Amino acid sequence: MPLLKCEHVSKRFGGMVAVDDVSFEIMSGELMAIVGPNGAGKTTMFNLINGVFLPDEGHIWFAGVDVTRFPSYKRAHLGMGRTFQIPRPFASATVQENIAIGAMFGAAGGELNVEEAMEVADEYIDLIGLKAHRNKPAGGLTPIEKKLVEIARALAMKPRLLLMDEAMAGMNPKDIDQMVTFIRHIRDVEGIAVVAMVEHIMRAVAGLAERVMVMHQGAKLVDEPTREALNDPRVIEVYLGRQAEEFNAKG
Ligand SMILES: Nc1ncnc2c1ncn2[C@@H]1O[C@H](COP(=O)(O)OP(=O)(O)OP(=O)(O)O)[C@@H](O)[C@H]1O
Ligand SMILES: [Mg+2]
Repeated sequence: MPLLKCEHVSKRFGGMVAVDDVSFEIMSGELMAIVGPNGAGKTTMFNLINGVFLPDEGHIWFAGVDVTRFPSYKRAHLGMGRTFQIPRPFASATVQENIAIGAMFGAAGGELNVEEAMEVADEYIDLIGLKAHRNKPAGGLTPIEKKLVEIARALAMKPRLLLMDEAMAGMNPKDIDQMVTFIRHIRDVEGIAVVAMVEHIMRAVAGLAERVMVMHQGAKLVDEPTREALNDPRVIEVYLGRQAEEFNAKG
């Protein structure tokens, strides 16, 4: 059974079709990237999966439950976590407190007391390597550290699926490689499926994803293993252009 299944999902804004009859599935533990040119419908698709928007047509199942009309918090309780493009930690709360908030509102929602949530937070502080910052206000961290705290907060919710919005936007190649390694590590250790929206960074797509869905004008253009997707003439034409040819030529 797929972990997530979207069937003929559409979303319109006024007369404009932002997501057009998209169907796809994600299995447990899979690493998938959603890419596409500006305005292709990636963020809207993400918001439909997550429950920020409800679709005009189609159905979404998560962990065997029809969540099509569920609000976001109910999807979170079923094990759907997400990070945001721009991390917004509670600036005056410590790193540990910020992550504990995830533990308190996630899959174990309402069952952990503050002390237990703080213990869960400590596990994830170790995982992201920010032990030295445990008791510092999150507002003082660097952007990449804030991103790591945000990921740790999402992981502390014990998700089965982690949705990462623009996971590596604005990062330099070294940070991208580090983040790719880290995301693959959490998949391996925690068995979590990850859907990452990755910007125009071939290095990140190729390093991270096992499968790529390319969107174009609201529709699904291809949904293929990464190598095939990056070599697909349709993808090269509408999206990747020379970037992909150069990347593929290099190996
Ligand atoms: N809340 C909204 N109200 C009206 N139109 C919207 C809204 N959100 C998105 N759109 C439109 O839907 C289309 C798809 O937008 P979306 O943000 O999903 O694309 P995207 O693939 O994420 O693009 P980008 O790479 O620029 O982030 C665009 O034409 C956009 O203008
Ligand atoms: Mg977007």
